[in-house]
Amino acid sequence: MRVLSLAYLLVALCGIHAAVVPQKDSKRNDRPIIGVLAQELKNPEPKRNSYIAASYVKTLEAAGARVIPVMVNRPEEEYRQLFKSINGILLPGGGANLLTSGYAKAAGVFYKLALEANSQGDYFPVWGTCLGFEQLLVITSGENLLCRTNTSGVSLPLEFTQDVTESRLFKDFPPELMTSLATENITVNFHKWSISMENFTKSEELKKFYKILSTNTDGNIEFISTMEAYDYPVYGTQWHPEKNAFEWSQTYYPHTPSAIKTTFYMADFFVNEAKKSLHSFASEEEAQKHLIYNHNPEFSGAIGSSFLQKYYFD
Ligand SMILES: *[C@@H]1O[C@H](CO)[C@@H](O)[C@H](O)[C@H]1NC(C)=O
Ligand SMILES: *[C@@H]1O[C@H](CO)[C@@H](O)[C@H](O)[C@H]1NC(C)=O
Ligand SMILES: *[C@@H]1O[C@H](CO)[C@@H](O)[C@H](O)[C@H]1NC(C)=O
Repeated sequence: MRVLSLAYLLVALCGIHAAVVPQKDSKRNDRPIIGVLAQELKNPEPKRNSYIAASYVKTLEAAGARVIPVMVNRPEEEYRQLFKSINGILLPGGGANLLTSGYAKAAGVFYKLALEANSQGDYFPVWGTCLGFEQLLVITSGENLLCRTNTSGVSLPLEFTQDVTESRLFKDFPPELMTSLATENITVNFHKWSISMENFTKSEELKKFYKILSTNTDGNIEFISTMEAYDYPVYGTQWHPEKNAFEWSQTYYPHTPSAIKTTFYMADFFVNEAKKSLHSFASEEEAQKHLIYNHNPEFSGAIGSSFLQKYYFD
């Protein structure tokens, strides 16, 4: 207890943020609905302007959540309404522009609403994977500090920092899975851009907001691979937890038992975060109108393509 209150005092003294992440274990919402953000297609066609890779949806479903698609290029008011109805948002990987795309704009709105809500004692978790991770960094720092790395197609073990044992994200992972994560090539890196340790450390905004949980290197540049916010339920991985269980097009995607457990434990963590959010739709009927089951995923997984199945949206 003493250590805790001292830590709290230090945080308060440093003026970082007044609030610690609120715990809402007493009231739990066992019917969480999580928004997954769509993104613009590079080559749109009639009725196909944006998409969501089904692997993100399946990952959340497997851990006990339902999903609604959050469409891009909608008015802020629509996002505000949706925010009150859902229990968390996942920003998936992909290739949208981090400053100008509809993906970037929607992510910015939800991030802002989440921080406001969480500092008022409400709970709303945000997760970014790969592009979503990079998007979180750009939003938090207010600038693009990414650099090119040689990481477009490699599975790596995580290099955990000392902070990992006290992290919310990893602290309840089974010890043998932590050992696998630290020694086996089971985290899929599929990105050309990264936040280097150098640039992260230079940014006051990033340093005070995010705790680094793991790093990796492309042999040349050390970059951050997993992070969680100190005072908010905001989480990011530069790597892809969802690919291990649900994507098959690349030979370096790992499907070993520990790789599959990784997908599940990451999803289990985030879905349990969403269960702390008591937002809800006005009725079950209203929720059903939004659920992703109103759309059908299509097989898009010819060898070499990034995703096995995709949802396409108008
Ligand atoms: C740091 O960020 C700048 C952009 O502000 C970028 O040009 C540079 O490559 C980055 N350097 C490293 C080492 O990450
Ligand atoms: C990039 O990394 C791969 C291993 O993942 C290596 O084979 C390749 O030589 C590297 N390329 C450069 C330009 O460093
Ligand atoms: C992980 O992959 C690297 C090449 O990217 C290889 O050198 C290393 O032996 C692999 N490690 C394990 C434990 O499979």
